[in-house]
Amino acid sequence: MCAQDWANVGRPALLCCGFLVRRLDVQPMSEFPITPEDWRSAAREKMESSAFDYYASGADSETTVVENIRAWGRHQLHPKVLAGVDQIDTHVEVLGERFSSPVMIAPTAYHKLADPEGECATARAAALAQTVMVVSTLGTTTLERIAQAAPSGKRWFQLYVHRDRELTESLIDRAEAAGYTAIVLTADTPLLGRRLKDEANSFTLPDGLKMENLAVAVPSTNGSGLAEYAASQLDASLTFEALEWLCKRTSLPVVVKGVLRADDALRCVSAGARAIIVSNHGGRQLDHAVATADALAVVRDAVPTDIDVLVDGGIRTGTDVVKAVALGASAVLIGRSVLWGLAVHGEKGVGAVLAQMQTELALALALVGAPSVAGLDRSFVSLRPS
Ligand code: FNR
Ligand code: LAC
Repeated sequence: MCAQDWANVGRPALLCCGFLVRRLDVQPMSEFPITPEDWRSAAREKMESSAFDYYASGADSETTVVENIRAWGRHQLHPKVLAGVDQIDTHVEVLGERFSSPVMIAPTAYHKLADPEGECATARAAALAQTVMVVSTLGTTTLERIAQAAPSGKRWFQLYVHRDRELTESLIDRAEAAGYTAIVLTADTPLLGRRLKDEANSFTLPDGLKMENLAVAVPSTNGSGLAEYAASQLDASLTFEALEWLCKRTSLPVVVKGVLRADDALRCVSAGARAIIVSNHGGRQLDHAVATADALAVVRDAVPTDIDVLVDGGIRTGTDVVKAVALGASAVLIGRSVLWGLAVHGEKGVGAVLAQMQTELALALALVGAPSVAGLDRSFVSLRPS
């Protein structure tokens, strides 16, 4: 993504993400919200309230949703001075490929709740930003249509293993055929966490929208339709044997998402996983699960250095990204921030969210005294004394 590409989103030329940055022009982008809270509020105004609740909410008391954000805040930075930061390089290498930014797009369901163009709009913005979009099994657009919408984009496919193994295998085959370059197995969702707002709203997809990869409508029930779908269709019997099966079944690298423990991370690697995503599903699965900022280093230290460890959950700002990389993440993923961008301004909104994050990251790197993402290490970060 080059500065000119963002001219049409009302932003002055800021920087060339991933390339050498000469000028850090941090004037606000008047057309768009600025802070993470502004984006969320603007999305809330535009969205139907039960759809907003589905995106925003977490499991039970939502303690983990809140803690994910607080935990990044508990980490403090130790900047270096006189580090020569007139040129900033944000490139990273993940799964052997080079990307212009460590900020990637987490898999999230139902993008058409935010914008009629849905997943296609997100895919186009991701391609323009030259970052990876992880596409959910539960999209409101087929994985093939998403690939066609942005042929130059890099995409990984997030897999929910269904009880119906043939259906699961067909999803893998379709992702391979459509040019996806990794399979992301979500391992923290044998059942759906209990989202109280979805239950209260009897939340289901509105008429006209369906889970297009599966060609089914979400059940309408008295509670959460998605929870009912997961309970009846997802395979809760999965063990590490299923991961071994998947690694053999696909020619693509397998990434396991939802790992929070060192022992699990090691077992994933032994079963054939090529990367791990430290995640608690944005606090939507097990309430009171450890915040991802607090689990990252433990997982990073447990697995060999050639295994990429990524992280998501509560990452909202450039300094959060710096902290995550300093703690050992090869890259980060953002979930709700992208959905807020999509709801506020479709493809341009997602582009603006990614651009703002990239600008903040470049500024944070300059101020922390690390001219490149690759130069970050644990000396830059510590836990604030309580
Ligand atoms: C998700 N997430 C998710 N994860 C996954 O593996 N498959 C999916 O289909 C979804 N769907 C989904 C929908 C919505 C509305 C949200 C908010 C999240 C979890 C997602 O990939 C990621 O782990 C979190 O969103 C990261 O936390 P933040 O960035 O939202 O705080
Ligand atoms: C969610 C599922 C779809 O978090 O992963 O809503």
